[in-house]
Amino acid sequence: MSRPAATGSGPVGVGLIGAGNISDQYLTQLTSYPDLAVRFVADLLPERARAQADRYGVPAAGTVDELLARDDVEIAVNLTLPATHAVVTSAALAAGKHVWSEKPLATDLAAGRALVEQADAAGLRLGCAPDTVLGPGLQTARRMIERGDIGRPLTAAATMQYAGPHRWHPAPDFLYQAGGGPLLDIGPYYLTALTQLLGPVTRVAARGAGAGPTRVIGTGPRAGETFEVTVPTYVTAIYDFAGGAVGQLTLSFDSPLTRTGVLEVAGTAATLATSDPNGFTGEIRTARPGDTDWTEVVPVTGVPGGRGLGVLDLARALRTGGPHRATGRIGLHVLEAMFATAESAATARFVPVDSRFEPVPALPADFDPTARTL
Ligand SMILES: NC(=O)c1ccc[n+]([C@@H]2O[C@H](COP(=O)([O-])OP(=O)(O)OC[C@H]3O[C@@H](n4cnc5c(N)ncnc54)[C@H](O)[C@@H]3O)[C@@H](O)[C@H]2O)c1
Repeated sequence: MSRPAATGSGPVGVGLIGAGNISDQYLTQLTSYPDLAVRFVADLLPERARAQADRYGVPAAGTVDELLARDDVEIAVNLTLPATHAVVTSAALAAGKHVWSEKPLATDLAAGRALVEQADAAGLRLGCAPDTVLGPGLQTARRMIERGDIGRPLTAAATMQYAGPHRWHPAPDFLYQAGGGPLLDIGPYYLTALTQLLGPVTRVAARGAGAGPTRVIGTGPRAGETFEVTVPTYVTAIYDFAGGAVGQLTLSFDSPLTRTGVLEVAGTAATLATSDPNGFTGEIRTARPGDTDWTEVVPVTGVPGGRGLGVLDLARALRTGGPHRATGRIGLHVLEAMFATAESAATARFVPVDSRFEPVPALPADFDPTARTL
C-alpha cells in the first residue's frame, strides 16, 4: 500500500464523533496539543455534543453530517460504541476524512478489512486505538528490547483481572456483549503491546469461561439495573508470534482480586516488566538470572501524554508524509487475533492468524506531544 502524500500546513483540524465517557480524556489531550485544532464535536445527542464542546472550548457542535460536511475537519475521531465504529468510520472515509477509530476497529473481521481497503482506495489514513502503546512506558520498553537489553525475547506473560467494569461504568452493557467482554474491550491494549514488542501473532490456543448470564450496574442513574452478559468474561490464551516468541495472556472480569497491567517479556539475558499496557507510562523493571525479584527500575524516556497521542502522530504524519504508527492494519491484525482467540476458546483448537502489518518505527525518545511542530 502506498502512503498518502503530505498535505496541508499548520495545525490539523479535528472533529470528534461521540461525546460520551471517554471523550473527556480525548478532549483534555487533543485541545492541549498545539499541532491540533479541535473544531467540532458531534453526537447522536446534540445537547451532549454541545455540552462537551462548551466544556473544552471547542467552537462548534452538532450532528455527524454537519461534522462530515466541514472542510476544516481533516481527521474524524470516532468515539462511538464498538457496534457503530465501522459504519461511522466508513461514512467519515466516504466524506474524505482521515479517521482515528477507538478500538475495536470493527466488531467483525469483514467490516474491519473493508475499512482498511476503503481507506487505501481513497488515499486516506486510518488509525486505530489503542495509542497507549505510543506512551513513554511501552515506547521505552520497545526501544530497550530492540536495543537487545534483554537478549533475544523468548516468552511473554500478561494479566489483567478484576471484578469488572459494571462496577464503575454507568452504561456498561456494551462491555459484556458482542464487541465487548475482556477480550475485545481490554484485549486490544495487551495484544497491541505484545505485537509491538514481539511481532505479529501467527496462531492462538484459548479457553473462555464466565461467572453468569447477568450483571447488575453498580453506579450512575441505572444503578441496580440487571443486564444480560452474552460473551465470556474470562479468557486465557497462548499465542505464537512470527519472531518465534510464545506468550500467554489472561483477561478476566471475574476476579475478586485485582491484578492488572502485568506484561513481562523474558529474554535470553533478562526479564523485562513493562508499564501497564492500558496506561501511557509507569515503571519498567528488569531482573537477571539469579535475581529473586526485580532488581532494576529503568527511567522512562518521554513526555507523558494520554488518549489522543495516536491522533497527534497521525496528524503530524499527514503534514510530513511519514508513517503514522497506530495504523488501521495493526488494529485489523489485533482484531483478527482477538476473533481467533474467541474461536479457539469455542472450538478447543489452535486457530491461525493470517494478517500482518507494516512494522512502524518506535517514537524517538525526544517525541513531545506538547511541542508545536506544524
Ligand atoms: N470509557 C472508557 O473508559 C473507554 C476507554 C477506552 C476506550 N473506550 C472506547 O471508547 C468508545 C466509547 O466509549 P464510551 O465509554 O465513551 O461510551 P459512551 O456510551 O459513554 O459514549 C458513546 C457516545 O457515542 C454516541 N454515539 C453512539 N452512536 C453514535 C453515532 N452513530 N453517531 C454519533 N454518536 C454516536 C453516544 O450518544 C454516546 O454519547 C468505545 O469504543 C470504547 O471501547 C472507552
